[in-house]
Amino acid sequence: MKFFYIHTFGCQMNVYDSERLTQALQDHGWTVTKNSGQADLLLINTCTVRQLAEEKAFSLIGRWAKMKADRPDVIVGMVGCLAQHLRQKAFKRAPALDFMAGPRALMRVPELAEEARQKKRVAVFSVCNFGGGTKAPEGVVPSAYVAVMDGCNQYCTYCAVPLARGREKSRSQKEILAEVKRRVAAGTKEIILLGQNITRYGSDLGQKINLADLLCRIAEAIPELSRLRFITGHPSAFTEQLIKAMADLSPVCGALHLPLQSGSDRILQAMKRGYTSTQYTDLARKIRAFVPDLVLSTDIIVGFPGETEHDFQATLDMVKQCDFDMAFCFKYSIRQATIAAELPDQLPLLEKEKRLALLLDTVEQKAVAKKAAMIGRREKVLIEGTDVKTKQRLQGRTRGNHIVILDGPPAWIGREIEVEITATANWSLMGEVISPPAGIVNNGQAIA
Ligand code: 5AD
Ligand code: SF4
Repeated sequence: MKFFYIHTFGCQMNVYDSERLTQALQDHGWTVTKNSGQADLLLINTCTVRQLAEEKAFSLIGRWAKMKADRPDVIVGMVGCLAQHLRQKAFKRAPALDFMAGPRALMRVPELAEEARQKKRVAVFSVCNFGGGTKAPEGVVPSAYVAVMDGCNQYCTYCAVPLARGREKSRSQKEILAEVKRRVAAGTKEIILLGQNITRYGSDLGQKINLADLLCRIAEAIPELSRLRFITGHPSAFTEQLIKAMADLSPVCGALHLPLQSGSDRILQAMKRGYTSTQYTDLARKIRAFVPDLVLSTDIIVGFPGETEHDFQATLDMVKQCDFDMAFCFKYSIRQATIAAELPDQLPLLEKEKRLALLLDTVEQKAVAKKAAMIGRREKVLIEGTDVKTKQRLQGRTRGNHIVILDGPPAWIGREIEVEITATANWSLMGEVISPPAGIVNNGQAIA
């Protein structure tokens, strides 16, 4: 038997890419292992969004180089965004690397691994079709990703994604529906549609279909699907048709991740985001009018080149005004070959750290207050597994995407359960089951 191990960095799209890469390798006779020491093929699926991810990737390859010194037949491959972005430079920086493949050449990995075995250094970066998808693995998978498009044409000035992933490429409705059907037939309750700029889904397909149409077709074709989400939307392509689809289609969850990036119009323009702070708040208000219990989360970058105290204050004000349930906050990180990397007035690290701490404080205050307001509410929780920390209790998510921890048997994994929220705990909520799901008795044995 030949074993492979994959280490994944980065976003949900990378997690999904690693799943379809696993599938492709298994189809070629490889067996997956969770133990890197046992693997004949070591793969790293990389992220290029921030410098830290790049450093972590090379440090892991450094550790693998030591393993390779003892077992010279081991093959090391780098795939994904960073491979595409750095290309041949990565070979120079990491002599242990045997092959590289960009995000759209993932399906070539089985063949590249064979070539590398013959002691050749190989790399494929060409942009080919999306290729592959995920099949349903064994066991219960309550929630699954399905990519609907890849790439981004927005070219925000700080972002390396368009450079690494290329231009937007939408998958056909037929291919998407088939993959969603496959996952739901195998017991998946929730599908999360993925795309870096998903609100532009279909714009490269000749306007025949858009994201709202796609949500509608999925809801119609697969009525057994309980939950449907999509990430990541861009504010400037958010149409009224899409807002109505969110409000009207019962599987579409009332949770939305809508990156703001900055509250300052001057910085938004320098970032080339394509909207003003007022347009963002107007949009958030409009979506809330249609989806009253909307859970809204966002991404924010602090310390973009030239960001003044005044600009930063505008971001803090927006956070207070927009009532976010959650915000992922980042220090601006210089990415090679982006426009922002060449801008004057790059901020010192200390200043970025200071602003990040202040922003996190503001975000947390808001998030804590919003979570506290949920105590006493009844929520449908999809049980995803055991809780990450103690492994003793169950962990699931509300339709609004809040994490809930509760007591219950493992047989509940994959079920949607009515829960009362009883307390808050750090980033999650605590809950108690109102009535156990039908067909399961207290000792966790299924009786149906
Ligand atoms: N520096 C810091 N954060 C970044 N992001 C993207 N590029 C950068 C960068 N150069 C953040 C954005 C994006 C999220 C996925 O990562 O907020 O929405
Ligand atoms: Fe990057 Fe902007 Fe595209 Fe998002 S919309 S992937 S931030 S370029």
